[in-house]
Amino acid sequence: ESTLGAAAAQSGRYFGTAIAGGRLGDSAYTTIANREFNSVTAENEMKIDATEPQRGQFNFTAGDRVYNWAVQNGKQVRGHTLAWHSQQPAWMQALSGSTLRQAMISHINGVMGHYKGKIAQWDVVNEAFADGPSGARRDSNLQRTGNDWIEVAFRTARAADPAAKLCYNDYNVENWTAAKTQAMYNMVKDFKQRGVPIDCVGFQSHFNEGNPYHSNFRTTLQSFAALGVDVAVTELDIQGAPSSAYAGVTNDCLAVPRCLGITVWGVRDTDSWRPEHTPLLFQGNGSKKPAYDAVLNAL
Ligand code: XIL
Repeated sequence: ESTLGAAAAQSGRYFGTAIAGGRLGDSAYTTIANREFNSVTAENEMKIDATEPQRGQFNFTAGDRVYNWAVQNGKQVRGHTLAWHSQQPAWMQALSGSTLRQAMISHINGVMGHYKGKIAQWDVVNEAFADGPSGARRDSNLQRTGNDWIEVAFRTARAADPAAKLCYNDYNVENWTAAKTQAMYNMVKDFKQRGVPIDCVGFQSHFNEGNPYHSNFRTTLQSFAALGVDVAVTELDIQGAPSSAYAGVTNDCLAVPRCLGITVWGVRDTDSWRPEHTPLLFQGNGSKKPAYDAVLNAL
């Protein structure tokens, strides 16, 4: 096959990218994005601050722009993200306790209701665990509403759109031996044992000096899949874009039947949230990097 999406589809998977709505007027950008990818994640446009800028007043203008571009071009959409400590609107940052808990529930219902039946996977909860050796939850206003906030988010999400796969998504959870990975594993295991509705785990896979790609990522993916959830690589970028690491991640996903697909976090290096890392598959001028060929060959 000659594109990432078509090559991934040979094994029933997708190869996606984050799309920035503000770049959809750049034809060099949309030409590559449309040609190579068959799944789309809105880079920012479906986040809490974008979709509910004032409490109870939803705005889907930016989200729908990305959604419509994706669907009109034949792509599936990953929803990102419903409950997160970051990119909260000011009104939500100011809430706490039962008021915040109810606002979280209302937010999930509002956004999932708007996109009901249209989203393949939703990142229901994003980045709830702390970095470092503690294995603890991250402190946040949501966490301070009670440790059950994550399962409440998932139960709310299941009722709001029963057709969507419901994912927990996090970063620095690719290395199997990391405390953060083990903490996330124990949560998913507990959810499955108690019947909390969770369908998938997203591994952001932002690899860099602090979180290097390690070959035990395959063990991580296999271990979570063995709990009875799908897995996905949701925000892949790798500092310096070494071909070996990009091929490694691709092969790791292909080795796990429950790995749904891979999403890279941007199209060209100049589109990346970390452009100084040159972490993506295309140069700023649109040409394919060596890592592109490594991924395509591995698929
Ligand atoms: C990033 C976007 O790429 C940036 O444009 C934005 O300024 C901040 O958020 N983990 C996530 C993504 O789940 O939503 C983040 O995206 C990158 C880290």
